[in-house]
Parts: sequence; structure tokens; C-alpha cells
Amino acid sequence: MTALRRYHITTFGCQMNKADSERMGGILDDMGLVWTEDPNQADLVLYNTCTIRDNAEQKVYSYLGRQAKRKHEQPDLTLVVAGCVAQQEGEALLRRVPELDLVMGPQHANRLGELLEQVFSGTQVVATEPIEIIEDITKPRRDSEVTAWVNVIYGCNERCTYCVVPGVRGVEQSREPTAIRSEMAAIGQQGYREVTLLGQNIDAYGRDLPGIDASGRRQNTLTDLLYFVHDVPGIERIRFATSHPRYFTERLIQACAELPKLCEHFHIPFQSGDNAVLKAMARGYTHEKYRRIIDTIRRYMPDASISADAIVGFPGETEAQFQNTLRLVADIGFDLLNTAAYSPRPGTPAALWPDQLDEEVKKDRLQRLNHLVSQQAEARSQRYQNRIEEVLVEAINPKDPTQVMGRTRGNRLTFFEGDISQLKGQLVPVQVTETRAFSLTAVPLLSPVVA
Ligand code: SAH
Ligand code: SF4
Ligand code: F3S
Repeated sequence: MTALRRYHITTFGCQMNKADSERMGGILDDMGLVWTEDPNQADLVLYNTCTIRDNAEQKVYSYLGRQAKRKHEQPDLTLVVAGCVAQQEGEALLRRVPELDLVMGPQHANRLGELLEQVFSGTQVVATEPIEIIEDITKPRRDSEVTAWVNVIYGCNERCTYCVVPGVRGVEQSREPTAIRSEMAAIGQQGYREVTLLGQNIDAYGRDLPGIDASGRRQNTLTDLLYFVHDVPGIERIRFATSHPRYFTERLIQACAELPKLCEHFHIPFQSGDNAVLKAMARGYTHEKYRRIIDTIRRYMPDASISADAIVGFPGETEAQFQNTLRLVADIGFDLLNTAAYSPRPGTPAALWPDQLDEEVKKDRLQRLNHLVSQQAEARSQRYQNRIEEVLVEAINPKDPTQVMGRTRGNRLTFFEGDISQLKGQLVPVQVTETRAFSLTAVPLLSPVVA
């Protein structure tokens, strides 16, 4: 082929992008390239980009500028921009950064190999047309040896008025349950213990698949999928993200309560606690409906941990409407909340609305919300004090090599004394001795059986 040897991937953005990067890394490994941590040592640099907010997009341009400069000294450097900025900008990216070799949207991630062949034969390539996503046959280069992501649905059919995702990720495409199960089976065999099923709106899974049962109920829902995959050997824990309140059913909640491998952790973004704002966002639910979902979860699983995303400073949001978001957060008590100031995005309806708020107002609301969130997270953490929890050990604590770290079923990061060479991938019962807003310290209760 060529003299290419080392590659580097930097990933911006969400879990979907991270999973795409792992699959693209697998393809590059298959092509005989070797991973390097340092982009400046690499012969192929791939930026897997995010455009959810303006600051995510700008970060990519500053990284790219540096590599484009390096290409002038090293002309055989291959520069690839993948992901959501690539999809959004397409050809315009080549005009902005002519040094680029390949611009490829997220739907094309599994086609990286053939796209690179075109690049190596001497052309600049832009791959952003909508396609049916092909099943991946290469083995992803997974970051962790303990927990793995498995895509179950690509794309998004919602039209939230602030959001670029439907435009850049395309329409929903669900994978076949059998393909998902066999990927999980392979992962289980390789020694992974935990799987996170991924989708932008994972609870919308299956709407594009055939199958209605005798009573007229749609089969192939996320609930059906969970029953179908939960007994895969080797996999001890199953999570899923991200859930949309619109599709979160009681049947799904029952399944999570009933299936022992399903972790009691739910990520269900609410975005705003005010009904008029929710309507302007086109979210398709009210705050009352959101509260009912959380109540139902807690009825079945009183200790479930709940996380979410929220946006402050949406166009036209009044102080009173923002107060409704604070009220929802105060009432529910989140274990974790990802917060963001509204960022107007190209091609989205809300960006064109006249009633945009000042950056100062958004910043102030963000700070007030964040303050409440960290208070709550600390209070929610305290319920773990002295409790016995099960931790899946993932890695050494980078700040203290005498400790290992992992997560509880509720997804709290937990540290305890131990030897990673013995404990990695083990489920260890621990007793919590110290709690902080976003992490715990514990002592192990038994020596686990070493496989
Ligand atoms: N599909 C998921 C979220 C995907 S995007 C859902 O519907 O909940 C991840 C998060 O980014 C969103 O939950 C939202 O809180 C945030 N986000 C999306 N667009 C944004 C924008 N224009 N400005 C600020 N935050 C945004
Ligand atoms: Fe964006 Fe809404 Fe789709 Fe989530 S559901 S990805 S916020 S459009
Ligand atoms: Fe970003 Fe694309 Fe994910 S815009 S949040 S990487 S879907």
C-alpha cells in the first residue's frame, strides 16, 4: 500500500462518537496501521468531531489548524475529519482547510477503509451523502477491556428546535436484534463484563424494524431487545443511553426492575422544567410527564440513580421559566446533571428566532443551576455512606496507584485499595467509607475469586 505506519484519533463529542472512533480504530488496525497516543508522531490523524455547541466546533478548527501546518513540512501526512462537523460542513471544510484528505460524516464510519483507498489513490474525498449504515465486520479498537459500547440505533427522528443531531446523524436506523446479540456474545467471550447499549434516543429503538404481535403490539422495542439480550454469557451488567422521555414506557421500567443484569441507572434528559419552553423546543412532553416517569422508576426501583441533560437560556426563556427548571431539579434530586447554556446552531429553527438571550444572562443561569446540581449530587452521594455496593473494577486510580477504580451499579465512580492486576474486570463487594459529589471511597469486603 503506502508507507503509512502510525495513526492517531482524537474524539470530540458524545458516546456515539466514541463508539464510532473505536470502530474506525479497528478498521485502521486491520489495515496494518499502528496506534500512537501522540498526534504529532502520526502519519494519519483523524479528528472525530462534534458540533452540538459552538465551542465544540471551534475546538476542532484550532486542532486542525495545527495539523494543517504540519502537513506543509510532512506532505505524506493524511488528515481526516470525521463525525458531526464533517457532516455539517462537508465541502466547505475543504475550502476552509484545503490540506484535508478526507471529510466523512458519521454514517460513513464503517466505510473508512474504502474511503482511505480512494485517498491513497490520490483524490480528496468527501463522503457525507445519507446511506444505509453497513454492519461492521471488523473488531473495534475498544478503549476499555472491561466495559464496551454497543450501538443499537443510529440517527434521530426528533426535531428538537435547538439541535443539530438529526441533521448530522440522519434518520433512525435500528440494528437487527440478532446482530446486537451476536456482538454482545463476542464481547462476553472476550472477557468484557459490562455493555452500554447506545442510541441518541435509545427508547425509540425498533420503530423502523418490522414485527407486530397477535395483539397488535409492536415487537422489537427496546424492552423486547433487553429481554432478548440479557442472558448473554459473560456480560454481568447492562446499561443503556440516552433515553427520551417521550418513549420511556412503564413496560421498559418493569423490564429493568425484573432483569437482574440491568443496572438501576437511567439517563433521561429533560432539557427544561417549563412547559412553554418544552413546547418551543418541540420536545413532545410536559414537566408533569417527566416527573411521572421518575416517580414510576422510583416506585419499581426506589434507589435508582437518575441523570439528565438540561439547557438554560433557550430563546425567550424568562427568569420565571428558568425558575421552573430549578424547581424540577430541586424536586427530583439528580445524581448527575449535564448542563449547558443554549448555543445557536446553524440549520436549526431556534437559531433564527429573534428573542435570543444575552450571553451574560445564560452564564448567570448556568452558574445558578450548576450550584444547585453539585449540592444535590453531594446529598445524593451521602445515601451511599456505609452501604455495601458492588464495584466493577476498570482501572488503576490515576491519582493514587495503590487504589483501583470502578463503578457501582448506579454508576458512581468508586475508589478502593487494591491490586489492578488481580482485580481488573472483577465485581467486588465493597463498603462505602467516604462520599463526595461525584465519587466514593470504599473498602473491599471479600477477596474476589480470581479467574
Ligand atoms: N438525544 C438526546 C441528547 C443528545 S445531544 C436527547 O434528546 O436528550 C446531548 C445534549 O446536548 C442534549 O441533551 C442537550 O442538553 C445538549 N444540546 C443539544 N443542542 C444544544 C444546543 N444547541 N445548545 C446547548 N446544548 C445543546
Ligand atoms: Fe437532538 Fe432532540 Fe434528537 Fe436528542 S431527541 S438528538 S436533543 S433532536
Ligand atoms: Fe456531538 Fe454529534 Fe454526538 S454533534 S454530541 S458528536 S451526535
